[in-house]
Amino acid sequence: MSSTERAPGTAVVTGAARGIGAAVARRLAQEGWAVAVLDLDESACAGVVQEITDAGGRAVAVGADVADEASAESAVTRVVDELGVPTVLVNNAGITRDNLLFKMTTADWDDVMNVHLRGAFLMTRAIQPHLVEARWGRVVNLSSSSALGNRGQANYSAAKAGVQGFTKTLAIELGKFGVTVNAIAPGFIETEMTAATAERLRMPFEEFKKQILAAIAAPRTGVPEDVANAVAFFVDDAAGYVSGQVLYVAGGPLG
Ligand SMILES: NC(=O)c1ccc[n+]([C@@H]2O[C@H](COP(=O)([O-])OP(=O)(O)OC[C@H]3O[C@@H](n4cnc5c(N)ncnc54)[C@H](O)[C@@H]3O)[C@@H](O)[C@H]2O)c1
Repeated sequence: MSSTERAPGTAVVTGAARGIGAAVARRLAQEGWAVAVLDLDESACAGVVQEITDAGGRAVAVGADVADEASAESAVTRVVDELGVPTVLVNNAGITRDNLLFKMTTADWDDVMNVHLRGAFLMTRAIQPHLVEARWGRVVNLSSSSALGNRGQANYSAAKAGVQGFTKTLAIELGKFGVTVNAIAPGFIETEMTAATAERLRMPFEEFKKQILAAIAAPRTGVPEDVANAVAFFVDDAAGYVSGQVLYVAGGPLG
């Protein structure tokens, strides 16, 4: 590392108790970051925290609801107190409430908007003073290939397209402070979220994966580590001139 490069400090990963968030937390810890493993249920974060500390890293579990203003703000305060001032935020927490429009309830719409959009807004607003103060920071937001349109996901698709606009605007607002803001839009990634989709369609997960694979250029479906690798790139000090971008991690050309 040259003398002008940044040493890793503290990173916050939301929705990190499992799936993509857990893989991102593990990966950032490997890169030397102290990681706040944030999820709704603090006890559910214990496994990931243990894995990181067993591997010689630093991590704490933080229970918080990203869609709740007070909860998001106190979570960031806790991270500052217990782990150090954060300079990296990965807005990964997410839910799906899929249904065709005519069957979609107002609660299905609001819940998805609240976690993805309001959550990313609240967490980023709470953390940004630290990034600005440090004159260095990285925000990575999880969008989705569903932003391009996906049957049964009017709410999720709108939220994930919104995340892309949010990303581009923050890249402009925070750029002068040495903060980059990028989005990753995964295609199909094997997690409990996609397993639940298969279950809803009453299809064995392996069968669902086979069906999905037919439309993917790559010879396999995605795994959480594919997304974690992309996050590691955006967080790297060397990626400082890459901002406001949406990277599709989908095993083929999308976007
Ligand atoms: N799996 C995929 O194929 C895929 C594709 C594109 C985008 N994504 C996005 O990637 C992200 C992670 O997805 P995943 O597949 O790992 O999902 P997952 O369901 O396995 O994990 C999501 C995590 O977010 C947490 N969470 C939900 N609401 C929260 C809240 N209000 N506050 C704090 N934490 C909350 C959950 O408890 C869970 O641990 C999501 O934003 C998702 O939309 C996933």
